[in-house]
Amino acid sequence: MSRWPLRQVAFVGLGLIGSSLARLLRERGLAERITASSRSARTLATARQLGLIDIGYADPADAVRGADLVILAMPVNATEAVMRAIKPALSAQTVVTDVGSTKGNVVAAAQAVWGRVPTTFVPGHPIAGSEQSGVLAGRANLFAGHKVILTPLPDTDPAALQLVETLWRQAEADVLTMSVEKHDAVLARTSHLPHLLAFSLVDTLARESHNLDIFRYAAGGFRDFTRIAASDPLMWHDIFLANREAVLQALDGFEAGTDALRQAITSGDSETLLGIFTRARAAREHFTHMLAGTAYAKSMTAEKELIYTVQPGGRMTGRVRVPGDKSISHRSIMLGSLADGITDVTGFLEGEDALATLQAFRDMGVVIEGPERGRVRIHGVGLNGLKAPPGPLYVGNSGTSMRLLSGILAAQAFDTVMTGDASLSKRPMERIAKPLRLMGAEIQTTGERGTPPVSVHGSAVRAKGGLKGITYDMPVASAQVKSGVLLAGLWADGDTTVTEPAPTRDHTERMLKGFGYDVQVSGPTVTIRGGGRLTATAIDVPADISSAAFFLVAGSIAPNSELVLEHVGINPTRVGVINILKAMGGDLEVFNEREVGGEPVADIRVRSAQLKGIRIPQDQVPLAIDEFPSLFIAAACAEGTTVLTGAEELRVKESDRIQVMADGLVTLGIKAEPTEDGIVIEGGKLGGGEIISHGDHRIAMSFAMAGLRASAPIVIRDCANVATSFPDFLGLARRCGLAISAGERESV
Ligand code: S3P
Repeated sequence: MSRWPLRQVAFVGLGLIGSSLARLLRERGLAERITASSRSARTLATARQLGLIDIGYADPADAVRGADLVILAMPVNATEAVMRAIKPALSAQTVVTDVGSTKGNVVAAAQAVWGRVPTTFVPGHPIAGSEQSGVLAGRANLFAGHKVILTPLPDTDPAALQLVETLWRQAEADVLTMSVEKHDAVLARTSHLPHLLAFSLVDTLARESHNLDIFRYAAGGFRDFTRIAASDPLMWHDIFLANREAVLQALDGFEAGTDALRQAITSGDSETLLGIFTRARAAREHFTHMLAGTAYAKSMTAEKELIYTVQPGGRMTGRVRVPGDKSISHRSIMLGSLADGITDVTGFLEGEDALATLQAFRDMGVVIEGPERGRVRIHGVGLNGLKAPPGPLYVGNSGTSMRLLSGILAAQAFDTVMTGDASLSKRPMERIAKPLRLMGAEIQTTGERGTPPVSVHGSAVRAKGGLKGITYDMPVASAQVKSGVLLAGLWADGDTTVTEPAPTRDHTERMLKGFGYDVQVSGPTVTIRGGGRLTATAIDVPADISSAAFFLVAGSIAPNSELVLEHVGINPTRVGVINILKAMGGDLEVFNEREVGGEPVADIRVRSAQLKGIRIPQDQVPLAIDEFPSLFIAAACAEGTTVLTGAEELRVKESDRIQVMADGLVTLGIKAEPTEDGIVIEGGKLGGGEIISHGDHRIAMSFAMAGLRASAPIVIRDCANVATSFPDFLGLARRCGLAISAGERESV
């Protein structure tokens, strides 16, 4: 195999791509000799002057003679002629690659010239062009951070492939491999079609009689949309002819899209227009997230790690309203989508988890406007109006989305697959799949431990007459399971009855009633009858007590503090954190109690207090299930020992919250002993240190508050998922007095 630096690298063509690669080879000393051919003597002269090549030739055969690596960087339609010309001058070891934007025709050309594609030919395509062209436009860093797609054939020589891969890695490109066909289909849609549209729009407008005026006034939109119409016409002429079939297919799809818009505009169909635009905007945002590698798309890419640093000390003061309740926000989208009519939501949590639910319903054809500063308008489609999503539903970090959606999807006439991020992919899904199967659902989880992806085969169930109501005694106290089963019950034949072993949050039951659905509650048992309908309503989402919890703990542990938390949801199934803090000696005052949209709400004042360790009452555990990470910080600051039992559920949350919290507390110098179903924490003095949050939002925020009582800085790793439940945590915490800052680190 060839070694770096290569003895000789030959270019055929020295345009933007070829000359950029030549610059890179020169700068990094990757080739002892660089030869090139070009149809333009001027290009060769310029390249020599710039020191990019050693010798230039008019005839490509002369350029490639003796080369270890040949890079074909001329327009794609010249490929066959160039290959024919260089064939006699190549040795059996010479590796040949190309940079053309289409691959099918390049491979066909090689086949035509050699009879079969040589094993030393590695077709490639750097996706790093720009609207500029020519030898002067090149730059050595053109490919850094860009993708390069290689499309090796089944018998491509692995050593040749490796050589070309290494070349592109040296250029700091991300190298991907895929089949020739897939490459051409993907590029037709993501690159060729947009270029076609840009060329066409500019040409169409330029031909209109008042074109001068149009161009004079053309501002942002026109400029953004048509930037690529300044690209090399000859190159694009070649690309469209070379990738004819795939481009025509992409164009058909596009024309169908504009036809639908034309019809909607003609008939004044604002529902369809809004539907297309909101879906497109959401898809664009989703895509931006994916590219930026932010929390929502975290599982898909390796990216920078978000790190919090908290300086020790401080006091907490002020009045704050934390973001909307996560559980209620999820349910507002679900029931609003399934209702008849328009549901307006205010106070919606614009966190990644609730947005994942929102995106899932958009994917199933529901028109949802917003969110815009907590306002969402849902154009309900009725219980039978959901449509099959175009692909798997990706719900990120959100267990609530996946478990509640399981119930809804089980009853649909179509099949779906749900996937999630790395954390969600480890969480148990059989707990919801099992009762749904009892109702007749066809649902599959993955692996021995019954984790995501979850596949739901609604169509088969519909064909057999649909779901049947069941009577189900839940083995675990889980509001998500209860809700998933009740939601499936909306479509089931007869009654669906669920009994819970301990009270869990009852937002689903309350909201169903708010949407006019009959729900019978008798002690721990809830019953609904299938076949009814949901009627749209208005929903005011209270502030999330689970987010308020961090501030309740902070206000308690930081000296000289007084905080008022406004408009907090105090549903009796959620107030464990208030009860537990009070039992520990916390100074909490709940006032201004009122009811909004079927949910009790109040303001809460918290003042500093000397907390004491307690044995946490069993009946409070389900009522504070999400608040234990912050309560453990309170326990660490308390006098004496706090004992928690009966909380094994904490081990299957976004992380194993018992172990991860114990590890973090020990790092800070606190005695914390995990048990199977709880923890024993001895209050003491908190030091500083580095905490691993394991991507768990509540762990990250809890340790942030620990800084108030620490004696040295606390650094918290892997904090991006705070955005799942508390988008402006940093800003709000800072405003109240926490000395917290965020930074990024390259993650491995
Ligand atoms: C939730 C229920 C709880 C909770 C989660 C949200 C809900 O989970 O931990 O954050 O919205 O129904 P379990 O029901 O699995 O305990």
